[in-house]
Amino acid sequence: MRILFISLVLAATVFGYEDEPLAYGNFPDGFVWGVATSAYQIEGGWDEGGKGLSIWDVFTTDWDSNGKVACDSYHKYKEDVQLIVNLNVTHYRFSIAWTRIFPDGVGETVNEEGILYYNNLIDELKRNNIEPVVTLYHWDLPHALEEQGGWLNADIAVWFEEYARACFVNFGDRVKFWITLNEPYVVAHLGYGIGIFAPGISGSGTSEYIAAHNLLRAHAKAYRLYEREFKNQQGGIIGITLDAGWPIPEDDSQPNIDAAERNIQFDLGWFANPIFSENGDYPQIMKEKIAEKSQLQGYEKSRLPEFTQQEIIELKGSSDFFGHNFYRGFMVADFQSDIGSISQDADKDTFVYADPTWYTTGSSWLNVTPFAMRSILNWIKTTYNNPKIYITENGVSDKAGNLDDFGRVYWYKHYINNVLKATMDGADVKGYFAWSLMDNFEWNAGYTEKFGLHSVNFTDPALPRRPKKSTELFSAIVRSNGFIEGLIPCE
Ligand code: GAL
Repeated sequence: MRILFISLVLAATVFGYEDEPLAYGNFPDGFVWGVATSAYQIEGGWDEGGKGLSIWDVFTTDWDSNGKVACDSYHKYKEDVQLIVNLNVTHYRFSIAWTRIFPDGVGETVNEEGILYYNNLIDELKRNNIEPVVTLYHWDLPHALEEQGGWLNADIAVWFEEYARACFVNFGDRVKFWITLNEPYVVAHLGYGIGIFAPGISGSGTSEYIAAHNLLRAHAKAYRLYEREFKNQQGGIIGITLDAGWPIPEDDSQPNIDAAERNIQFDLGWFANPIFSENGDYPQIMKEKIAEKSQLQGYEKSRLPEFTQQEIIELKGSSDFFGHNFYRGFMVADFQSDIGSISQDADKDTFVYADPTWYTTGSSWLNVTPFAMRSILNWIKTTYNNPKIYITENGVSDKAGNLDDFGRVYWYKHYINNVLKATMDGADVKGYFAWSLMDNFEWNAGYTEKFGLHSVNFTDPALPRRPKKSTELFSAIVRSNGFIEGLIPCE
């Protein structure tokens, strides 16, 4: 395993800094092509249809920009379905706003207007032969639940289970592909750790581990509910979407190779190990390091919570597929953090940075590293016993938002080609979703970072959408289900 890991890393390091030749060939039969969005980023209609306040509505109260109107997909969803149809994809990944179903997060009865909105969207998709892929939680927690502690309150596992039940009951006759949580790492780390995302709580290395623990418990509850009460009759699949960048050791010294492995265990293994590994628990390296540091820091017990035996049983195997949002690689070096600094990043004892030779994008955290896609897919394959993988997000931002988006053309060509190479290596990749259908509210970057295959003119009240050049490349790959020599624009 170690030898395979090293050779994968070396392959990435040696070939990663220049264009590799494109691989030609097809994706496996039945490969799923889609585009992705999320409710708060596109819907708008923030106080319409009986919707309650979410933590993002509250978090952005004093900001210059927010998701109150966003792309107004709440009203323009039919137009958006046509954009999806025109891309030739077969699947659309969107999220349900919890606050449209239960305005206060919980309740005896659902909000019928919210149900109606998603029924209309789902029916419109089905009429156009597009399969809905539904994320239950893409970061917009009901504010009423945050007032009771949000993801820090252990009861949230049951609140989430009941919300999931309402979605399965109302939409499960037509939705056959469910994602419980989007990127629990970001929810825990940025929402309850660093505090730069809603709800803005600072508690890195402490509360973020509790939030993560409850996210995992909630995921398992929703998965088991579907398995027990809905799967036989409705026949769908359900899983989780994780995220992590790919760590590239600074050189091939053992401490740096170990640091890279440790880094991915802390970022991805944190959530993947309890679900996809044999022991159904956090990675051993996390348990050891955090326990050791906690003791030195004077804590009575480890800052990393422990699962009960029952929770381990519920978590183990609780995903029909490995959903992964993949964006970037980064360099990693071994680094001994100061014992006085308490944070998830310090717990890793690594130092991460971007290679200055990589292309930059519209987002400071995002560099163009297509080779890293192949590496992480192979790592997931090897580490978790070859699971079915869906890339549930991949895409790039620019600041200009212009239609002749050559950077995005380069991105999709090279990243998707590395997905193809990973399938040739034997990774069981089942599908790919581009992020995003259109420019939208990019969280704390507002509307300044544009990830869309379509532009949206946010200064025009009609919010017109227009296809960017990258739609042609993306559609050509989708239509061919792969890379056919001579058919790829800008070859
Ligand atoms: C993901 C997230 C999306 C989108 C994207 C681009 O982490 O799930 O909502 O914002 O990043 O930054």
